[in-house]
Amino acid sequence: MAQTQRTHRITLIPGDGIGPEVTDATVRILEAASTPLGCSFDWHRYDAGADAFAKTGEYIPKALYESIEQNRVALKGPVTTPIGGGFSSINVTLRKKFDLYANFRPVKSLPGLKSNYKNIDLVIFRENTEDLYTGLEVMINPDIAQSFKIITRKGSLRIAQAAFDFAAKHGRKKIHAIHKANIMKLTDGLFLACCKQVANGFAGVAYAEHIIDNTCMQLVLNPWQYDVILTENLYGDILSDLCSAFVGGLGLVPGANLGAECAIFEAVHGSAPDIAGQDKANPTAVLQSAVLMLHHLGEAEAAGKVQAAIEAVYAAGTSLTRDVGGTVGTGAFRDAVIAAL
Ligand code: NAI
Repeated sequence: MAQTQRTHRITLIPGDGIGPEVTDATVRILEAASTPLGCSFDWHRYDAGADAFAKTGEYIPKALYESIEQNRVALKGPVTTPIGGGFSSINVTLRKKFDLYANFRPVKSLPGLKSNYKNIDLVIFRENTEDLYTGLEVMINPDIAQSFKIITRKGSLRIAQAAFDFAAKHGRKKIHAIHKANIMKLTDGLFLACCKQVANGFAGVAYAEHIIDNTCMQLVLNPWQYDVILTENLYGDILSDLCSAFVGGLGLVPGANLGAECAIFEAVHGSAPDIAGQDKANPTAVLQSAVLMLHHLGEAEAAGKVQAAIEAVYAAGTSLTRDVGGTVGTGAFRDAVIAAL
């Protein structure tokens, strides 16, 4: 029987720093995996951040917003955000603009990697639009700066709902809500109340609460006690990087920013300026983000094929990048994954 041909229109933001290298490797692997399955991609490429500003005078070009509105799915490389001044984070702006309230970050060990932490398999659900990341800051006077932490009932209920729906659907046993409600009694108190309310509707998923500082120690001592972590924006950002260390570091952990209308898939890591342009970056995190995107697009077979090829390359251990103890570059890793397809 003739195979149906499917073309997915995807907004592609290569980003800067290592972004162009890791997204290029990912695009090539996706095309090699999907073409034989009758699946192709129509990539709509856009710059964002300083590169976009240099070319168009806008940090996020209008055409990029329109492209995401139309395609509803984007694959994104990291974009550098200036520290202590300059333009606002492109990532935070996109997440807010498209109301991508759920930041989903699965942290799972790949075969073959040397680590003190074996068989890690946890998932982080991070609220993605509120908290201290609203960027509402004022100088009260030259010596006092104030930042507003915003937590809403709506925002807390929907991220809790997303986490519990996921747990119930995928057979996850336990959700830990992570907070600091002992100090931030109103904001984190509201977040916890909402988590509890949603938890009451899911008899099959156990629910517990841990304070963020204790969670950091608990994670380092015994990460296996965590199944699904449900938390606010800032804690989720920090815990994501911490948890990435259990499975080999930032070069590996993927992510999805999910909303009711659109989804943007991107790695946990940033633009890694220290290794940009040197063929040193590990594309696995963006590639595994693209695997999440393939599932989102209903391309489960292509997703499984790419994931199996990644795992085969890690299990063989001979074509790994330096961040995970290997000796090869981005391009050689990409070619090994394509060969393993
Ligand atoms: P980073 O994640 O870029 O790098 C931290 C460390 O991890 C560096 O040593 C880097 O070399 C290493 N690393 C990261 N990704 C790697 C990969 N794929 N392969 C091998 N090694 C990798 O964090 P940093 O340095 O704090 O941030 C750099 C810039 O990235 C900042 O401007 C920050 O705002 C931005 N950023 C952007 C994000 C996004 O676009 N989603 C997310 C996080 C940070």
